[in-house]
Amino acid sequence: MGGMSEQDVVRELQHLRRQINHHNSRYHQYDAPEIPDADYDRLLSRLEALEAQHPELISADSPTQRVGDKPLSTFVQVQHELPMMSLAKVFSEQELLDFEKRVQKRLDSDAAIHYSCEPKIDGIAVSLLYENGLLIRGATRGDGLSGEDITHNVRTVRDIPLSLPTQEECGLALPSRLEVRGEIYLSRSGFARVNADARKKGDAKVFVNPRNAAAGTLRQLDPQVAATRPLRMFVYSTGIVSDDIPWPGSLSEIFLNLRRWGFQVNPEQARVRGFRACLDYCQALLAKRAELDYEIDGAVIKVDDLRLQQELGSNARTPRWAMAYKFPAEEMSTVVRDVEFQVGRTGTITPVARLEPVFVGGVTVSNATLHNMAEIARLGLHIGDRVIVRRAGDVIPKIVSVITQTDNSLIDEEPGAKDSRNSELQAIKMPANCPACHSPVEKDGDILYRCSGDLICPAQRKESLRHFCTRSAMDIEGLGEKLIEQLVDQNMLHDVADIYALSKQQLLTLERMGDKSADNLLTAIEKSKTTTLARFLYALGIREVGEATALALATHFGSLEAIMQADEAAMLQVSDIGPVVAAHLLAFFANADNLQVMARLRAAGVHWTEHQAMQQSSALQGQVYVLTGTLQLMTRDEAKARLQALGAKVSGSVSTKTDCVVAGPGAGSKLDKAEELGIKVIDEEQFLRLLQELE
Ligand code: IVH
Repeated sequence: MGGMSEQDVVRELQHLRRQINHHNSRYHQYDAPEIPDADYDRLLSRLEALEAQHPELISADSPTQRVGDKPLSTFVQVQHELPMMSLAKVFSEQELLDFEKRVQKRLDSDAAIHYSCEPKIDGIAVSLLYENGLLIRGATRGDGLSGEDITHNVRTVRDIPLSLPTQEECGLALPSRLEVRGEIYLSRSGFARVNADARKKGDAKVFVNPRNAAAGTLRQLDPQVAATRPLRMFVYSTGIVSDDIPWPGSLSEIFLNLRRWGFQVNPEQARVRGFRACLDYCQALLAKRAELDYEIDGAVIKVDDLRLQQELGSNARTPRWAMAYKFPAEEMSTVVRDVEFQVGRTGTITPVARLEPVFVGGVTVSNATLHNMAEIARLGLHIGDRVIVRRAGDVIPKIVSVITQTDNSLIDEEPGAKDSRNSELQAIKMPANCPACHSPVEKDGDILYRCSGDLICPAQRKESLRHFCTRSAMDIEGLGEKLIEQLVDQNMLHDVADIYALSKQQLLTLERMGDKSADNLLTAIEKSKTTTLARFLYALGIREVGEATALALATHFGSLEAIMQADEAAMLQVSDIGPVVAAHLLAFFANADNLQVMARLRAAGVHWTEHQAMQQSSALQGQVYVLTGTLQLMTRDEAKARLQALGAKVSGSVSTKTDCVVAGPGAGSKLDKAEELGIKVIDEEQFLRLLQELE
């Protein structure tokens, strides 16, 4: 570096910064890096070294300066030059229709209007101020008139350009002052990562949802914290804009400009004509909600033409040209009526909250699993508590927090009702005896409890029977929970082998069982006798032996006899089997009752063709596969197990180490990345053919 002229240094600095910004955006915005991380790190180190030698040449927009700020001691209030308004909300299509009518009436026109339709991002509203192309201030919305200066944190967000390209660089003139507004958010996957990291570090505090995590992060005084959290930003409007350049006449044209300046405009944003199209947009967006990697709480419909916006004007706090159409909330408050204890197939006792029914995430929820006693302690939950229930995407509902007296902003509390929570509410205790069979409950490890009744416990028996009949196990169509319940209660079924001894006469004594259904059920039972070793093993319900492990065992050993004879050392040879699973397997096969049930099943005619043990099981040895999109011909677990049985590794992300990507419908960024890196991509049918050839 010593021998470089100042001009050379400046040129190299500019070149490095441009390259780094480019790779940053490939990585963070498109999820499609062009160079390996190591090369990126080298560029950044070179830039850091050069800047260390020439501190006078460090610019505020250098990629090294994202986390440059020292922690603040307090937040500074900033005044918004134009107030940041909020949106009026509607909850039904009818109300949305009324909005359109009002718009047309005010404009005194019945011509079809163009609207900009956008997702309503559930994040934190932020204003970014650029002067002569440089980001000089980031602020929260606050009360709309003034917010807090969060420039130090905003600078760590990779979606936010620290400087904007000049007219020479992007062909667009830049106003000398430009305020851009939008929503900072944490993606669902980013949120999962933040909480997983916190748990790994032993942090007691995990965030309850992505929005809280984003808000908590922006409220940090130290930008180092924000820098470790993958915050993102979608922009949705501009605020103050100097009038030194011509400005577009519509919102959708502004979005085009914002994209060229390097901002993230939501890819779901659409300009549509007429109101019917707005309704269609809302429906389509709602249907897509669970697939998006970020949370939305509705759609925003805005009149696209800025002149019309002007003409429509605003009410006190909300513009008349825009409306939020709210989707069903993914979090709601309700009351825990009771906590019951459910006994699982292997005896684990799980607390389940019975809730006052509540409409959340689009369905009515009246139960939520509490996982274990440690979760109850973490929540500080008592029976009678008011809680927040969350059901986001397709996931099972869960209780995220207890509403205590201090956050009574959320509920109407009777005056003077203080302290009622702790004195009147009932604590939740693990029962000493199993609720189904009254056998003593035993502690299993640090947090789990288990019923000691094993096969005498009807709850465990019902669950084992249910599991045995499921699609991925013996696949007995028609033998579901209700029927099993009846059969067990009437002593017709004791264990899984009894299924094959059921007679038509017996079935006909059951409630709502006609001649035809009895025949159908017997046919389904008969059909299930022809199975595979892997399904049979999985159906037995051995602890910790899921579909993938069962398949690995079947492929490795080839026959049930070989598995039953295997000792621990032999079990540990199987990929994915560790000492715990091996111990469960050995215990299962050492139990005389289990051996008898297996013998009876085989005597009843349950059979399979033997696997060719180990043969060709290394055809894909060392190869790395990635599965993406939806598979229709098999489950993801099965695909994974079959690949592993052939010696392949299955990875969750595409990199230069990937050998092949199996892409089903709906494949997204992983497929793009594979194509970018020139990695082989096959569809599910090709994949199936490959498996059939190799297995
Ligand atoms: S436009 C004058 N567009 O919703 C209109 N807002 O109650 C200003 N939000 O505080 C807002 N996504 O934080 C707009 N695509 C979107 C939005 C959006 C989320 C938030 C924003 C605002 C609140 C409105």
